[in-house]
Amino acid sequence: IQIHGGHTTRTAFFGSATPFELTSRYGSPLYVYNETILRQRCREIAHLVDYERFSVNFSAKSNSNPALLRIVRSEGLKADAMSPGEICMDLAAGFTPDDIFFISNNVSAQEFEFAADRGVRVSVDSLSQLELFGSVNPGGSVAVRLNPGVGAGHHKKVVTGGKETKFGIAPEDAETIADICARHRLTLRGINQHIGSLFMEGDAYLAAAARLLELAEGFGELDFIDFGGGFGVPYRKLDGQGRLDLAELGRGLTALIRDWTTRTGRKPEIMVEPGRYISAECGVLLGTVHAVKANGPTHFAGTDLGFNVLARPMLYDSHHDIELHRLGGEPLAEPTPVTVVGNICESGDIIARDRMLPAPRENDILAVLDAGAYGHAMSSNYNLRLRPAEVLVAADGSHSLIRRRDSLDDLLAPYRMAV
Ligand code: LLP
Repeated sequence: IQIHGGHTTRTAFFGSATPFELTSRYGSPLYVYNETILRQRCREIAHLVDYERFSVNFSAKSNSNPALLRIVRSEGLKADAMSPGEICMDLAAGFTPDDIFFISNNVSAQEFEFAADRGVRVSVDSLSQLELFGSVNPGGSVAVRLNPGVGAGHHKKVVTGGKETKFGIAPEDAETIADICARHRLTLRGINQHIGSLFMEGDAYLAAAARLLELAEGFGELDFIDFGGGFGVPYRKLDGQGRLDLAELGRGLTALIRDWTTRTGRKPEIMVEPGRYISAECGVLLGTVHAVKANGPTHFAGTDLGFNVLARPMLYDSHHDIELHRLGGEPLAEPTPVTVVGNICESGDIIARDRMLPAPRENDILAVLDAGAYGHAMSSNYNLRLRPAEVLVAADGSHSLIRRRDSLDDLLAPYRMAV
């Protein structure tokens, strides 16, 4: 096998198998996860802050495969949820209701009931939703999501703090929050925030955390304070991009929390809520080159990696490193610009534009790196394509199926009354 890139080889990513063996066994495209890397990331984050009531909620929206959730749980992490579906998946993976934080946004009374019935922690995202939650669950416990007024993120679509985003309650509404809680006999147990996704420098996160602690003082005794997620990973590893300095951020947070707890005499649980940091780098998406062509000056590699399988490049112009694997001993050509496209009937179906790769050939495998977060989780059946299988490579190098590929029958099932 000839490889351009070589990151997966250096990290023994595929264990005892080759990408060709995996795709011929489980089909292409295929999501492959490496358990050792997943556990490693869990452990780094679990030790981020030196404070006895520190905990980490894994943001299950980034990857909700229950096999991965179970591994995350075994590392002592908790989980968040954005919907009844994610609550179900967290519970199926063995998280207890106490360990699940439902961070709601514009939900129905039924969804609040669903969460309250199961006893999971709930955060609400507006005064009107606080009223609704109070009427559904009078006498219960609640948390409110505050908008710290600052945001950060890799793309405007994923910045969630600041006045121009839909998230959070303005801190100035503290009194109204207290009134609504009193009227419904709700106990305010926590406050949370999330400023946005994918920061590579900790400053904005640290500043927002400091601000949330300051605001916490106006909310009486709280059981927990949640600083949110957003911890970035280097998506340009093949260019040598460095990592987020987690140790430095951890020291900053530890100092903040120490000062605040000493000054206020309070000891609430302090939580962070990363998704991507934990799940991105343990995942690689494998796809197959089915066609090569030149349209004028542009050289295309036509693959099965449509935006139904990985939406990030199309949605956010996100970069994912791509490795090329070729069966056979013939040396690879010098890299030239190649535009890697999928099999979806839209011209925007581009995974990478003018990427420097050895001219691909039919049956080469392309390995899209760092695809474990917001990869399978955002896949769809558009063009009635089948969402791919997912495979886990264990520490001993063995591999197992942790989600089968969709079947044509799965596509037909919701339409049984019509066909
Ligand atoms: N907490 C809350 C309330 C969130 O809304 C999010 C992500 C997280 C935690 C976890 O953020 P993370 O640590 O993974 O950055 N689909 C986009 C990312 C959307 C993030 C949405 N919220 C992407 O593929 O880049």
